[in-house]
Amino acid sequence: MEILLGQVLRFASDARIEGPSAARHDRQGAVAIEAGKIVDVGPAEAVLARHPQAHRTDLGEKLISAGFIDAHVHYPQTAIIASWGKRLIDWLNSYTFPEEMRFADPAYAAEIASRYLDLALAHGTTSMCSYATIHSSSVDAFMGEAARRGMRALSGRTCMDRDTAPAGLRDTAQAAYDESKSLLTRWHGRDRLGYVITPRFSPTSTPDQLLALGSLWAEHPDCLMQTHLSEQVDEIAWVKSLYPAARDYLDTYETFGLLGENGVYGHAIHLEPREIARLRDVGAGLAHCPTSNTFIGSGLFDAAGLASAGIRIGLATDTGGGSSFSMLRTMAAAYEIGQLRRGALHPAALWYLATVGAAQVLRIDQAVGNIAVGMEADLIAVDLASTPAIAQRAERAGDFWEALFPTIMMGDDRAIAGVWVAGRRMK
Ligand code: GUN
Ligand code: ZN
Repeated sequence: MEILLGQVLRFASDARIEGPSAARHDRQGAVAIEAGKIVDVGPAEAVLARHPQAHRTDLGEKLISAGFIDAHVHYPQTAIIASWGKRLIDWLNSYTFPEEMRFADPAYAAEIASRYLDLALAHGTTSMCSYATIHSSSVDAFMGEAARRGMRALSGRTCMDRDTAPAGLRDTAQAAYDESKSLLTRWHGRDRLGYVITPRFSPTSTPDQLLALGSLWAEHPDCLMQTHLSEQVDEIAWVKSLYPAARDYLDTYETFGLLGENGVYGHAIHLEPREIARLRDVGAGLAHCPTSNTFIGSGLFDAAGLASAGIRIGLATDTGGGSSFSMLRTMAAAYEIGQLRRGALHPAALWYLATVGAAQVLRIDQAVGNIAVGMEADLIAVDLASTPAIAQRAERAGDFWEALFPTIMMGDDRAIAGVWVAGRRMK
C-alpha cells in the first residue's frame, strides 16, 4: 500500500449547481492506494493511523486530485494544433483533412498516438475520449498505446462517406458499419478501453451511413456514440441545406437512431429550444470545448444554462481545433466564455467539469474522475505555485479557492508535479 500525503480535493455532489459546498478539501489530507485502486481517503492523521505500515509519499503542499478527463479530443490533430487563420469548414479542408490522410500509414498513426498520450499525461490528463481517423489502424494505434500505458481511454473510427469529405478519407455506409463493428469487438471492454461509435458529423455522412451507425449503436447500446453538433453558424446552414427535411441539426442524428443517453455531442453552442429539450429528455451528454470555440471562432457555449437544465457536461480540449493540451488552460477558457455568457463559473465548478463532469459524460464516473474508496487510482499532484506569476498571486490568497484560481487561469504542464495511472507513477 502507498499513501500520498498533501492537500486533497474531491467532490461529494454537483459543483456546477452547488459550487464550493459540493467539494471536500483537506489541507492535510491523504489518499491510500493498493493494487491500482483507492482504498482510503481523508485527513492525513486518520488515514495514517489506519495504515501505519504503508509506504508514504509526502507531496507537501501539492494538491492531490483525480486526474483530468478530456471528453472530446482528436489525437490525429496533435501535429497541426495552432494552425492559423481559418474558421471551421476552411480549417477542416486546409489543415485537418490533409493531416488525417497521413494516418493511412500505421507507423505514423502509432508515432502520433504515442506523442499525444505522452503530452496528455504530462498535462495531467489521465483519461480521454478521442476521435481517430477513417483508418481502422488509427484506432488500433491509439488503443494499443493507451493500453501500454495502462490508461482508461476511449476512441473510435471517424466515419465519413459523403463527397463533402476528400476521396482519401471516405468509406461507405457498409464499410463504416463493418469496420466499426470489428473494432468494437476487438477493443470494447478490453483492459481499460472503450470503443466509441463515431460519425464525424452529419455534413460528411450520407443518411445511409448515419442509419448504418445508428443500427450498430442499437446493437451495442452500452457503447458511447460521439459526434459534433451546432458548432458554427455556417455549419448549421450547411446542415440545413444537406438535410432539408430535418427540424434542426440534432434531428439529423435523431432521425437515424443517433440520439441517446450514451451520446456525446461536441460543442452544442447554437442550440434551438427543441434541441435542448430533447438532449435533456434523453439524458445525452455534451462536450464543452472552450479553447476551440474561441480559436476557430465558433461562439459562446452556455455552460451554466445547460447545467441548470439538468444536462451532463464535460470539459474538453478538442485539440487540434482547441489550442491547448492543458485542461487547466481549458478551464481558464471556460471561465472566460462564462464571463461573456452568463457570469463567473466558480473554481469548484471548473474543476468539477474537468474531472467528475467529463467522467459522467463518458459514463466512466464509477471508475475515475473523483477520489473515493473503490475508484481507480488515476491521480495528479498539482503545484499551486508553479511559476513566479502564479506563486505571487497564490501567496495573497485568503482561502483555498483563491489559492487554486491563479493555477486554473495561468497554469500549464509545469503545474502538474505528479501523475498516477492505476496507482503507477507516470510523471
Ligand atoms: N466538426 C467536424 N469535424 C471536426 C473537427 O475535427 N474539429 C472540430 N472542432 N469540429 C469538427
Ligand atoms: Zn471535435
